Amino acid sequence: MDLSTTTAFVTGANRGLGRHFAQQLLAGGATVYGGARNTDSIDIPGLIPVTIDVTDAASVAAAADTARGVSLLINNAGSFTGASFLDGPLDDIRLEMETHYFGTLAVARAFAPQLAAAGGGAVLNVLSVLSWVTFPTSGAYSAAKSAEWSLTNALRLELAAQGTLVTALHVGYMDTDMAAHVDAPKSDPASVAKLALEALQAGEIEILADDVSRQVQAGLAGGAAALYPALAAR
Ligand SMILES: NC(=O)c1ccc[n+]([C@@H]2O[C@H](COP(=O)([O-])OP(=O)(O)OC[C@H]3O[C@@H](n4cnc5c(N)ncnc54)[C@H](OP(=O)(O)O)[C@@H]3O)[C@@H](O)[C@H]2O)c1
Repeated sequence: MDLSTTTAFVTGANRGLGRHFAQQLLAGGATVYGGARNTDSIDIPGLIPVTIDVTDAASVAAAADTARGVSLLINNAGSFTGASFLDGPLDDIRLEMETHYFGTLAVARAFAPQLAAAGGGAVLNVLSVLSWVTFPTSGAYSAAKSAEWSLTNALRLELAAQGTLVTALHVGYMDTDMAAHVDAPKSDPASVAKLALEALQAGEIEILADDVSRQVQAGLAGGAAALYPALAAR
């Protein structure tokens, strides 16, 4: 797809990766709606602010009513509570599902008619290497990202009928607020956004942004023993 003639809607466009998507799309000539829970936090010249809380059905419907002619939807909004499955707050565990799984589903459903009207268009879902592997410190987040991965694959099949390209971005740690607590190598979110937009323009259906994503995806073929060798050795 030609991004210069695109009208895009980016959720979570006020900071982190979403902000880079919005900036780069604008720089490339696109018309861009910036979705945010608090539109006062949007300060990018040219970005059209739209209030959206992806966990709130009325807010999602109102956003889809406000934005017009969207041909590219970027489901980027995300939460990370770090809740433990055994003793973390259930509300936090639910929030991860509400944001990543039900939120992405709600936004995709709300914008699907606009994408169809635009001739198909595209959806880019921001997934993670944690869609494929989990840790005790990220169980709730990983489960929600796994659910979003399956949702993405189902949307590929259902939206193919209207000619919509559905693309998944898998990436390890990025240097944003979400991973501020992590002491490990992190990708530059501006570079990840650039790589993802280039892949989208090339019509790719899956984007692996870093080595860790490529390694873990390859590791899936080895089953649980390859993904969690410490457990297999016990
Ligand atoms: N950072 C990483 O290491 C990493 C790695 C792999 C994948 N990802 C994924 O990348 C995406 C972007 O994350 P990020 O790293 O840019 O995180 P971030 O800096 O924490 O930004 C998260 C964004 O999502 C928005 N958001 C959260 N809940 C929302 C809701 N209910 N409705 C609407 N917007 C909501 C936030 O808005 P507010 O400002 O209102 O909170 C913010 O704009 C997420 O899907 C995340 O899961 C991140």
